[in-house]
Parts: sequence; structure tokens; C-alpha cells
Amino acid sequence: MGIRNVMVVGSGLMGSGISQVIASAGFEVIMVDQKMEYAERGLSNISVNLSRRVSKGSLPENEKEQIISRITTADDLHAGKHVDLVIEAVPERLELKKKTFAELDQMVQREAILATNTSSLSIASIGSSTKRPEKVIGMHFFSPVPIMKLVEIIPSIITDRDTIHAVEEFSKQIGKETIFASDYPGFTVNRLLVPFMNEAIYLVFEGNNPEDIDRGMRLGANHPIGPLELADQVGLDVLLDVLESMYEGFNDSKYRPCPLLKRMVESGKFGKKSGSGFYTYNR
Ligand SMILES: NC(=O)c1ccc[n+]([C@@H]2O[C@H](COP(=O)([O-])OP(=O)(O)OC[C@H]3O[C@@H](n4cnc5c(N)ncnc54)[C@H](O)[C@@H]3O)[C@@H](O)[C@H]2O)c1
Repeated sequence: MGIRNVMVVGSGLMGSGISQVIASAGFEVIMVDQKMEYAERGLSNISVNLSRRVSKGSLPENEKEQIISRITTADDLHAGKHVDLVIEAVPERLELKKKTFAELDQMVQREAILATNTSSLSIASIGSSTKRPEKVIGMHFFSPVPIMKLVEIIPSIITDRDTIHAVEEFSKQIGKETIFASDYPGFTVNRLLVPFMNEAIYLVFEGNNPEDIDRGMRLGANHPIGPLELADQVGLDVLLDVLESMYEGFNDSKYRPCPLLKRMVESGKFGKKSGSGFYTYNR
């Protein structure tokens, strides 16, 4: 049986983007956050995104209303007890993810698949906090979710075939392309991209100008966006979390986060979402 109803846990940058894409593909989705006001904020971000498409003429107004009507907000995981698939998008902290999965395992029907949008944490470790580790899998979306085509699918070594197949099918149904990646820190895309952004931050740390670094990679390597612009977009706090789990996971100094990145995060410079990172933004 295919996936019909979905719950997304966390309604921040990723959770709201994932919910928008799922609802846009015609599925019902429950979007849960710690507090109702956070979930409502996620929904209003979706509404703003869709309105932008309406004003550009790429989405009819009535379709926007239909998409919004397929999203229900909640502040309690119980709201999703009958769903077929849960996609978790809470902050990148192993203990928080494990606690969330242990709760989901208690509350959501036994047959449901529990997926995590983690960027770097072990799927096996998250799965071990449930009594259904064979139904736990990584579904790694990329930001901004409505635009980026990829979902990286990460089975743990004990995820079963039916779960892998169902998640692959569902990803296609919501208009995404998939690749498979092994369950090691950073998977495939971040394993390459995150050390690259960290190295660009070391260049700033050593006195280079962010604009020069980004222009260099745009003009000299044909990258569509510079590494520091990308880091600001991803969120410097998220980037630091991913680097730290790669550093710990491989126990290898090549993943050591740049001290400047740590200082910026400690100072509340999280990039675009906080209005300030390597560049400043109007919020
Ligand atoms: N930002 C990116 O570009 C990106 C890309 C791919 C994957 N990810 C991953 O997605 C996940 C979420 O990242 P984000 O950027 O959306 O973070 P975010 O901080 O924007 O959103 C996290 C949301 O989770 C909510 N939350 C916290 N604890 C919760 C709980 N116990 N129950 C329900 N909701 C809870 C927060 O209130 C917040 O709304 C992380 O694992 C991150 O590594 C992020």
C-alpha cells in the first residue's frame, strides 16, 4: 500500500518547505511543532511563498488555497497517529532526534515509516531509539525545498526493502529525484559540500574577503552561488552542527570546524535567517 497521509515534525525552514511540497503534490499533511504558534508561523511562511508564485502568475489563487487547506497544524505528535509516513525535521541534535523518534514510535501506528531529514546523524542510531528500526530511514531534502530537486535516501543497514521502496516511490510522487547514500556522516552531498564551505570560512579567517571568495568560485569554477553565500543560506548554526557530527563521526581533523564559524554562531550570526552572516540581509 502506498503512502497517503504524512506528518512533518518541525515547521522551521525545512519542515515548512517539505510540508509545502507534499501538500502541493496533493497529499494531506500534518505539520507539528513544539508550540502552536511555531506551527502557525511555518504555515504563514508557506502562504507567503505560495503568494509569491501567485503574483508571478505561476500558481492560480484557488490552487494556493487548496494547497494550504491540505496542511493541518498541531503541537502534539498524537495528531499523526494514523499517518503512513512521518518526516522529522527538528534541529540537528542526536539526543533530540532520538527522543522524538522514541515518542513517535509510541504514538504513530505500527506500520508507519519514520523518516528523518537529518543532514549528518546516524540513521541506525536514530532508529535504535524505536522498536521498528527496519522502518526508519533518512529522507534528506535540500534547501530551499520547493526548488531543489533532490532527495537523498539513506537506508540504515537494517532498513527493510519495503520501506526503501515506499520512500523512493513517494519522493517521485512529490516531484523529487532521488539518489541513495550510505549511512555515514554527511552522506554524499554534504560530505563534499560541507568541508568545501568550511574551507571557504578558513579563507575568511586568514584575511580573505568573502566577496572575493564567492566571486572566485562563481567566475573561476562556474558555481551558481559562492560557498559563503551558500553557507549563509543553509544557516551557519546548521553548518556547524553538521561539521561537528562529521568531525566526531570520522574522528578526522579534516572536518574540524573553523574557529571563526564557531565565533559567528556564538555571536548569533546564523546567516540569512538571523539577518547577518558573511553578508547582511533585510528581514
Ligand atoms: N537548513 C538546511 O539547509 C537543511 C538542509 C537539509 C537538512 N536539514 C536538516 O533539517 C533539520 C531541521 O533543520 P531546519 O534548518 O529546518 O531547522 P529550523 O531551526 O529552521 O527548524 C527546526 C524546527 O523544529 C522545531 N522543534 C524543535 N524541537 C521540536 C520538537 N521536540 N518537536 C517538534 N518540533 C520541534 C523548532 O521549533 C523549529 O521550528 C535538521 O536536522 C537539519 O540538519 C537542514
